[in-house]
Amino acid sequence: MIKKLLDSFQPANYKLLLDVDSEALTFTGGVVIVGNSAEDTTTLDLHAKGLEISKASVDSIDAKDFSQHEYDVLRLTSPKTLNKGEHTIEISFSGKITEDMVGMYPSYFEHEGVKKKLIATQFESHHAREVFPCIDEPSAKATFELTLVSTAGNPVLGNSPVTSQQSNGDRLTTVFEPTPKMSTYLLAFVFGPMQSVEAKTKDGVLVRSWSSLAQPLTSLNHSLTEAVKMIEFYDDYFGIPYPLSKCDQVALPDFDAGAMENWGLITYRETAMLTDPENRSISSEQYVSLVIAHELSHQWFGNLVTMQWWDDLWLNESFASLMEYIAVDALHPEWHYWEEYTSGDAVTASNRDVFSDVQPVRVDVEDPAQISTLFDGAIVYAKGGRLLKMLREYIGEEAFRAGLKQYFIKYKYQNTSRDDLWRSLAQASNKNIGLIMNSWLEQSGLPIISVSQEGNKLQISQTRLLLDEIGKSSQLWQVPLLSESVLTPNVLSTKITNVASQDGEIVLLNQNASGHYVVSYSSDEQLKYLRDGLKSLSVSTDGRINSLNDMILLSKSGHNSLTDALEVVKSLKSEPRDSVWGMIAAILGNARMLVEGDEMAESLVKQLTFDLVNEKYLELGWDFADNEDSNITHLRRTILAMAVSSENDDVISTALSRYNSEDPISMNAELRSLLMSVAVRFGDDDVVDTLIELHKNATSPDVRADISGALASTKKPEVAHKLIKLIKDKDHVRPQDLLRWYVLMLRNTHSRTIAWQWLLENWQWVTETFASSKSYDAFPRHSASFFNTKVMLTEYKTFFEPKQDDLALERNIKIGVKEIAARIAWRTRDQAAVTLWLKQL
Ligand code: BES
Ligand code: ZN
Repeated sequence: MIKKLLDSFQPANYKLLLDVDSEALTFTGGVVIVGNSAEDTTTLDLHAKGLEISKASVDSIDAKDFSQHEYDVLRLTSPKTLNKGEHTIEISFSGKITEDMVGMYPSYFEHEGVKKKLIATQFESHHAREVFPCIDEPSAKATFELTLVSTAGNPVLGNSPVTSQQSNGDRLTTVFEPTPKMSTYLLAFVFGPMQSVEAKTKDGVLVRSWSSLAQPLTSLNHSLTEAVKMIEFYDDYFGIPYPLSKCDQVALPDFDAGAMENWGLITYRETAMLTDPENRSISSEQYVSLVIAHELSHQWFGNLVTMQWWDDLWLNESFASLMEYIAVDALHPEWHYWEEYTSGDAVTASNRDVFSDVQPVRVDVEDPAQISTLFDGAIVYAKGGRLLKMLREYIGEEAFRAGLKQYFIKYKYQNTSRDDLWRSLAQASNKNIGLIMNSWLEQSGLPIISVSQEGNKLQISQTRLLLDEIGKSSQLWQVPLLSESVLTPNVLSTKITNVASQDGEIVLLNQNASGHYVVSYSSDEQLKYLRDGLKSLSVSTDGRINSLNDMILLSKSGHNSLTDALEVVKSLKSEPRDSVWGMIAAILGNARMLVEGDEMAESLVKQLTFDLVNEKYLELGWDFADNEDSNITHLRRTILAMAVSSENDDVISTALSRYNSEDPISMNAELRSLLMSVAVRFGDDDVVDTLIELHKNATSPDVRADISGALASTKKPEVAHKLIKLIKDKDHVRPQDLLRWYVLMLRNTHSRTIAWQWLLENWQWVTETFASSKSYDAFPRHSASFFNTKVMLTEYKTFFEPKQDDLALERNIKIGVKEIAARIAWRTRDQAAVTLWLKQL
């Protein structure tokens, strides 16, 4: 067990001075820490990593020794005994600004032909120690008084407002107001050539959005208005006003994660914050709202009240993953955003949680260095969020909110564990929350709930859904039976039970998709009722999405054939909601995967795809109207993409002529990536070079993402070879985007082996470059998500299995092997049936 430094010394206040040389990429600093020693001692331990310490004293007496130890510990030894109680530590140090996007790092852009940079920080989970000596643990809350010395003439941002600024030649000294009591991982600063727009909330909180000078100022507008509205929403929802007087958000050109909730100074990837007000897609507008909602919710849940230790990081992230949707839905009811939740997070969580090696939501963490390895996004974000949604549906919105309010009031500026939250929610709901929730959080996996109804009697049982070692688990969950019908009992806590429904209606479970389980109905009446409801729309949209996902999972696990799902899909031509079409496309995609390599069957899937979408294709056409319903905009985009994937001649030639008659950059953002990808696949030879050049010079992050997506859809090996050569060239692909390029190329059957070969040849470099990145383990993970033959399985094993001793990779390699094996088994089971079904169409 790693010792918690906080047990020996509790810091209360840091006075931190940093003098940064952005040209030499170095800094010097001094820190004065006032805090309390828990015992009489001669040594004091702090965290420090990669810092050069030049001087250290305690209570103005020079330390006789300061030295670096295991687990980033800097140990100061005082010549005299330090009594239990208050002490003042002073340390002088220097350090380096490093390129790996953690600690203090540069973020590059070009403006008017000149290369420029911003200096920014990323301290979560444990990188504050790379910038100054501190107790770098989430429970070590203290106040921080920061003074920054930087190049004059550029904005300087910290967590709190500026108290004074003074320039001396080309150096600028900025002093910030003391922060509230907070954790080190939330400390941040950003400075350099930036521009901003600003507004105020009803309560007078100053909100600003910042970007590099390479971006048009107007691309900040959407993020600003959204942030103002969301702070006002949370003020009311949580019943505690936003705790600071200002909130800055910065779009950084180089950024490893998606966004980071530093208190009062939130940082983002450019795609997560900027949008072109003249020409943006509805998805990118919605994504920006979602990310802002996520990070702003952390200003309360995470920043004001913080987990005691990293083993409850899921609580931070699962909670924000739920609040994202609550806030976006409140601000934009017309988006029907819960549907995106169901077709997104609910589907992601359930499709990941089916292997025996998948982690539970809550995992022990000894060393924060394990965080990147132990926090699987599909589980810690998507599944955890879904469990909280399940809880909210079970106890009701009113009790949920009342419990939260009480929790914030009781624990503000403190640290908590999940039990504190369960207690607040239990008090508000009069239900035993811990009992139910711990059964979901501490165990991995999800159950199949089998239901058979006869009159008012239902027999309901649970068994774990596993794609490997099927049937081997005897796990039990406390399963809230979420239904519109009144059921007694309404929680399934045993393997099997009899449940009474009140009236004569046919019972369906989990129609809001909040329950983290798959429902399998066995009586003919129920099945018919469900299938009719999917077609007639008497089943809700969330219910339709979720039922189709359940069908996929039942087929993946061998309970049913995918032909069952295909049979249902055949009757859904008139489906009105885009999010349901997303599931229809997923079912067709699975059918295509199952028959991959059989050209005849593949072309039948294409034919089926076109037959399904044709009605909507003719109805919706290619043109987007201003101010139309967002569902129509999404749906047109989805139908066109499906029509393109069917490779129907008319569709392709219409797309090509549209591409050829427009300027690629200014074409409608809804169609841009689709038209470009048709041009890459079916257009002239020069399209690829034109797009590579445009990609290199484009400043809009959305345009760049659209172009790279289109390029990676190529059918030509020589183009794939050309693209893979660019992947390490920073002029073409920023390190933050490399993983996306790799995954896009791996997804495409025509470039899959080329991308894989690249990984094999560049593994050493990948390890060196991404070892400290949150997404290092994504390489074995994503590689497994597209492999579906025995040859590929052998290659995967040969390459990755010897790398299992790298703790960061072990879990994803194990799951990867099982995932590929399960896919192959699915093909063995179902390929013939699906092929036959297609032929009989
Ligand atoms: N706090 C996280 C980012 C983080 C987590 C950084 C752990 C380092 C270690 C942030 O709130 C977050 O969750 N960001 C997401 C984007 C979000 C919209 C889902 C991310 O970066 O993927
Ligand atoms: Zn988060």
